[in-house]
Amino acid sequence: MYSAIEVIQQRRTLRRFTSEDISEDTIQHLLTAAMAAPSLMGRKPWHFVVIRDPEVKKRIAEAFRVHPQLAGAPVWIAFLADVSASPAWRMDLSAAVMNTLLQAAAMGLGATWIGTVDSKWTPAQVEACRTLHIPEGWELFAFVAVGRPAEQRPPHVLDPYIFSTRVHEGQWDNRRQAPFHQSRPEGGER
Ligand SMILES: Cc1cc2nc3c(=O)[nH]c(=O)nc-3n(C[C@H](O)[C@H](O)[C@H](O)COP(=O)(O)O)c2cc1C
Repeated sequence: MYSAIEVIQQRRTLRRFTSEDISEDTIQHLLTAAMAAPSLMGRKPWHFVVIRDPEVKKRIAEAFRVHPQLAGAPVWIAFLADVSASPAWRMDLSAAVMNTLLQAAAMGLGATWIGTVDSKWTPAQVEACRTLHIPEGWELFAFVAVGRPAEQRPPHVLDPYIFSTRVHEGQWDNRRQAPFHQSRPEGGER
């Protein structure tokens, strides 16, 4: 059993997956985590499409020009927003994605948040929405590609230097010292 901070620091973006499938039960856990996210006035403006079809994943991965290995994840989850339900749908959906990534990390799965930054990705969004039969009025916010990881990355660690330059005490010009010391990771900020 990991503590919250352990799961948060161990979560890394992983883009290589084994061919092992992931169960419906696992998907249920991921979606349960997603739907436990906070949302403005509890409006929960989200829907999800669970995608297992290799052709569909490949087509969307190509449209979004993501790392080709992401198409090899056994499952992609599309995060969709009912934009009429909440003016805060981007924030609500971000929280849902983050919960999903943390639940995946807690279960030893690898996952990647695939974002859909508006203008740059519009043709890809149109293609993905057509492929997934998304109705008018719904925004495709993100995908999460998830599976058994075939790579490892080191956990995040607290960098006292970064901490003291990003965290301010009481007012902007007071720097706050990291509460405890951990050695600075190779390569500086990550
Ligand atoms: C809004 C957002 C969109 C992202 N989109 C992509 C993406 O399209 N493709 C990808 O490979 N990674 C994507 N990522 C993952 C980032 O590249 C990754 O979080 C970053 O490199 C930091 O690594 P870490 O998650 O291991 O801490 C996205 C992350 C966020 C928050």
